[in-house]
Order: sequence, then C-alpha cells, then structure tokens
Amino acid sequence: MTRPNATELLRAVRIAPSILSADFARLGAQVDEVVAAGARVIHVDVMDGHFVPPITMGPIVVSALADRVHAAGALLDVHLMIERPERQVAEFAAAGADSITVHAEATPHLDYALNAIKDAGASASVAINPSTPVEALSEVAELLDMALCMSVNPGWGGQRFIPRSLDKLERLRALLPASCAIEVDGGVDATTAGGCVRYGANVLVAGSAIFGKPDPAAAYAAIATAAGAA
Ligand code: DX5
Ligand code: ZN
Repeated sequence: MTRPNATELLRAVRIAPSILSADFARLGAQVDEVVAAGARVIHVDVMDGHFVPPITMGPIVVSALADRVHAAGALLDVHLMIERPERQVAEFAAAGADSITVHAEATPHLDYALNAIKDAGASASVAINPSTPVEALSEVAELLDMALCMSVNPGWGGQRFIPRSLDKLERLRALLPASCAIEVDGGVDATTAGGCVRYGANVLVAGSAIFGKPDPAAAYAAIATAAGAA
C-alpha cells in the first residue's frame, strides 16, 4: 500500500488524536471515527515501564492499524517513551510508523537515533520533557522533520496543560528551521489549542479531550475549529 506523504501532512495545522485514551476493545472503529471526522495524523503512545512507569503498546498495534490509517490517506505518528529508542526504530518503521519521535532524555545518541529513523524510511522527530531546555535540540535541528514539546510530564493521559509550555513553543519555533513541524502533547483541548497554534505549534495531540468524550468525532471537530485546523 502506498504511504501518505508525511512531510506534506505535517506542514498544515493538524489535530492528532492519541489512541492512548481510546477504547482498546474497539480500537479500529475508534480510529475510523476520528479519520471520518477529518483526522489525518493518528498518535500512538509507546511506553516501556522504564522511561515512564506505564507499559502500553508496541509495533504489533502499529501494524494492526497501518492499513486502515494509510488507506484513508492518514499517517501513524509514533511517540516512543522508551529507553534507548535507537534499538527499536527500525521495527516500528517496518510495522508502518510514518513519523517516529524519540525522547532527547532517553538516549545519549540522538544524532544516531534520528539517522536510524531516516534510514528506516520514516520522518524523524525528537520530544523534550517539560524540564528539558529547547537548546537540547540545537545540534540536531537540521535533522528534524518535527519536534515535540511535552506540555505535561509524559506517561499518562488526562493531565493539565502546563502554561509555560506556550513560551517554550515560541522559543522552539525561533530555534528550528521553518520546514520543521512543531508538535505539542499533553492537556490539549478546545480551550488550550488556540494558544498552542499562536505560539508556534502546528500538530496538536489530544487524547482524553477526544476519546474520553462520548462523541469523539464531535470532540475532534471542536478542537480542530478552535485550532483553525484543516
Ligand atoms: C502522555 C502522552 C500523550 C497523551 C496525551 O505521555 O504522550 O500523547 O495521550 O493525553 P491528553 O491529551 O489526555 O493529555
Ligand atoms: Zn504522546
């Protein structure tokens, strides 16, 4: 199956529903609902019980979703909250990940990890925790297709947006090349989305604000409107 053009999709303002808050007993149907509502970026949170306490999912879930997501012209945005992610990126890309994000705090080999993602054919991205300065990305800025600014401490859905993340988004935007997408993750809903876009983010992850609601498609639409997304 042909893959979506990640560079193209990540250029616009996008809301990326995070399946972490979905009903896993009906995961395919939940993804179909948000894709039908217009979502073109599906966010997959991978946690290893080490980098963050919870354990969530691995390549097997990425591969289970890949065909239906790609058939809809959407992409799989895989957020690795795992130690030494460079050892796993090829497997996630082979499973169908289109964009892969590693944490700056999870490896001493960020340059190597980003090149491993690109070699595996996926878009390369780095996430930084709330306590990590934006300068952690300065030496790899030219390698990045996207940067992810955590606006909560990683590990759990449903936390409150950390307000100083807005200033951090602005500093990231100033640091990175214009071609680099900026993603924000944690506590994004219809009230925080507009500020994120004004301060420089264009890919907005939302988990509980979409899948925690009785009508995920309507919740998606409300956030997309608030963000001015396509
Ligand atoms: C948290 C994850 C997020 C999570 C966001 O560590 O990286 O993607 O799903 O959840 P909400 O949108 O509920 O804050
Ligand atoms: Zn995430």
